[in-house]
Amino acid sequence: KEIFLKDYKLPDYYFDTVDLSFSLGEEKTIVCAKISVVPRVDGVAAPLALDGSDLKLISVKINGNELKEGDYHLDTRHLILKSPPSGNFILETVTEILPQKNTSLEGLYKSSGNFCTQCEAEGFRKITFYQDRPDIMAKYTCRIEADKSLYPVLLSNGNLIEQGDLEGGKHFALWEDPFKKPCYLFALVAGQLESRDDTFITCSGRKVDLRIWVPQQDLPKTEHAMYSLKAAMKWDEEVFGREYDLDLFNIVAVPDFNMGAMENKSLNIFNSKLVLASPETATDADYAAILGVIGHEYFHNWTGNRVTCRDWFQLSLKEGLTVFRDQEFSSDLGSRTVKRIGDVSKLRIYQFSQDAGPMAHPVRPHSYIKMDNFYTVTVYEKGAEVVRMYKTLLGSEGFRKGTDLYFERHDGQAVTCEDFFAAMRDANNYDFANFLLWYSQAGTPIVKVTSSYNAEAHTFSLKFSQTVPPTPGQPIKEPMFIPVSMGLLDSSGNDMPLSSIYHDGKLESITSGGQPVYSTVLRVTKGEEEFVFNDVAEKPIPSLLRGYSAPIRLHSDLTENDLFFLLAHDSDEFNRWEAGQILARKLMLSQVVNFQKDDKLVLDPQFVHGIKCILLDSSLDKEFIAKAITLPGEGEIMDMMEVADPDAVHAVRSFIRKQLAFELKQEFINLVKENRSSGKYEFDHDNMARRALKNTALGYLASLEDEEITELVLNEYKTATNMTDQFSALAAIAQKPGQPREDALADFYNKWQHDFLVVNKWFALQSASDIPGNVENVKKLLDHPAFDLRNPNKVYSLIGGFCASPVNFHAKDGSGYKFLGDLVVQLDKLNPQVASRMVSAFSRWKRYDDTRQNLAKAQLEMIVSANGLSENVYEIASKSLAV
Ligand code: ARG
Ligand code: ZN
Repeated sequence: KEIFLKDYKLPDYYFDTVDLSFSLGEEKTIVCAKISVVPRVDGVAAPLALDGSDLKLISVKINGNELKEGDYHLDTRHLILKSPPSGNFILETVTEILPQKNTSLEGLYKSSGNFCTQCEAEGFRKITFYQDRPDIMAKYTCRIEADKSLYPVLLSNGNLIEQGDLEGGKHFALWEDPFKKPCYLFALVAGQLESRDDTFITCSGRKVDLRIWVPQQDLPKTEHAMYSLKAAMKWDEEVFGREYDLDLFNIVAVPDFNMGAMENKSLNIFNSKLVLASPETATDADYAAILGVIGHEYFHNWTGNRVTCRDWFQLSLKEGLTVFRDQEFSSDLGSRTVKRIGDVSKLRIYQFSQDAGPMAHPVRPHSYIKMDNFYTVTVYEKGAEVVRMYKTLLGSEGFRKGTDLYFERHDGQAVTCEDFFAAMRDANNYDFANFLLWYSQAGTPIVKVTSSYNAEAHTFSLKFSQTVPPTPGQPIKEPMFIPVSMGLLDSSGNDMPLSSIYHDGKLESITSGGQPVYSTVLRVTKGEEEFVFNDVAEKPIPSLLRGYSAPIRLHSDLTENDLFFLLAHDSDEFNRWEAGQILARKLMLSQVVNFQKDDKLVLDPQFVHGIKCILLDSSLDKEFIAKAITLPGEGEIMDMMEVADPDAVHAVRSFIRKQLAFELKQEFINLVKENRSSGKYEFDHDNMARRALKNTALGYLASLEDEEITELVLNEYKTATNMTDQFSALAAIAQKPGQPREDALADFYNKWQHDFLVVNKWFALQSASDIPGNVENVKKLLDHPAFDLRNPNKVYSLIGGFCASPVNFHAKDGSGYKFLGDLVVQLDKLNPQVASRMVSAFSRWKRYDDTRQNLAKAQLEMIVSANGLSENVYEIASKSLAV
């Protein structure tokens, strides 16, 4: 059943207080819920519909009187009380659930012997009958009763107000959460866990106890998570003025979790891979992800929990904003440019591709069948870009005024994206023109810019034109409000001062308290629009969309020489990287054409020279260099082609990599040697940057057929003292089939078989490999003793990993498609959310040639006709077929 934003109605009843009581058992769990119900309009007695799924109803009472069968209606999705009393009343239900049998990892389930919950978006209805929607905000208590030796730790939201022993080896704990919350933020954990404890003193001097709960043997791996939490708490006070509001903050890590983590009030639950880290077992990327996600979930306490969403269509209200906040947090603790490059790459690779396919939807979707399918890169990452644009337009101070007003107005409420917009506007008295279209129009705007210089008049003109491509359900689009941050470079590569702009029949001067201005933000709001800069002394080279100020595809008339110039000189580091990427994309596309014509592949010497200059520029940040010498991904290039050709793109990318390695071999070897370190592992920018550059160089070198290099790479593997270096070397060795690859993979498994997070890396490295015919290896790994289809991380590593290799997943014999099709059907019976993420790999099937299209389509058809298919998989598969 499809649900529409336009059908939103206020609830007929609110819930004021909710008292839950759990009796956790080995076969079944009993849940008692006592809810005080308040009609929205006094005296109006409408039926009260409660959501419920996979629940066994034991009893239901109103004001203490048990209801008989005719008083309510019960089906597989609802419990409907036909005629509740008018006025306030108390509703009591008793239900029975089977957490041990719950493989969907939604609602209450068991993970490695412990009980835990995941309620967002609509999992609370698998725990008890409830109005499972975020605009129902209530105060909760939660009593948990369980066997004391099996479940010594009993946790829920808020403060522990009572605990004690019971008969028969049982004990209980009673928790009270003083803040109103929607049910998706409810959490419960029970099990054998130990905590790393610390404290944080807030800006107003309150002491907060911090606890990170894990199995005892993992305690040493929680140091970085605790560091990250304290850093996040401090940062949110300093940058957003947000203080934590309780005296206790708990984090629990569980090995079986569908997503990354969940921001349940004061009881965040995490996928273990985003908590546990040690230098020996986690890479720099893992450390960075932990910092970002611990921050993200903590920041939700204000953006999501204190101020929540009216309905699930508003998801980006909390997720876009919280992603923006975690991006800024990571930027402030590391390198801003490098963080921005990573975030923009992610957006381009995943979100642009979603925007161009059958699942394209606006940041605020108009409809859904299963909400879980809308926890997307569009809602999260494009949503974060929308928040970033407010900041670009308003400046840091204006943006802060906007968020202050947002919290002041809406604390304790469930609100909409317009409410956030209104706070930004009202706090700054700013004219946001048609900015709201960013929430309602899907698709990536395409912006064309042409420039011209008038040497006599000393004017420089930029003409913009924009279009937004049609997307499912939205054939016609309106022009968007695009903030274009920009500057002009003179012939020595310096930023030129900007004096005034003629635009829309008006002359606007650009000044900042009498100081010269070198960078400005153009407000592009129309289909076609011109900006003319005055007093431009010489023909400039424009640096456009600095810092990637809007989530668009920009096509400019910059020449290759201009781009090489920007690569070498732009004061905006992001745009230096960008210029290099544009050049690389052009080069790769031209060679794809050569490959398809069976012509010889060639590498432009000017490109080699450009890369070499970056490599040797010791003034540059090492991590920036590593990013700047990394070619755009195969997916990005395929997205730019009329018909995606995975074999051609793979051949070209491999050729360019190998050719660069050949021509810059000595430089790369030097980089490896100069950037080794025998010191202790440190998670700081300088050390991470050093390792990134060394390992990128090593990856290039490993593409060569060369004895000396093979020795070097093997040696790097053997001498590595941390996972970052060890795994990079392993990946380098594994690029080519052969005995060294087999030996290294076997050695690595032997070393790490006791650590499932490391074993997952080992799975992913093999499954994502581009070596020919890899589907057979992946099939074998499905039977590996360490693999388990019920664990999402293992599925993401092995099956998700396989789909990340275009040559193998899109193999022309259809073997990759068949593999995935069969697995999706199997997986769907266990865990629909995970199956639905996997089936998404088919969604761009129309981008390929006829042979591939037919093979992929056959799998999608097989999937939609499977018996007992979940709504999750049905939505993605059927929408993919509909285009
Ligand atoms: N709110 C969580 C986060 O972003 C994610 C929850 C995902 N839930 C889901 N059913 N997909 O931090
Ligand atoms: Zn989130």
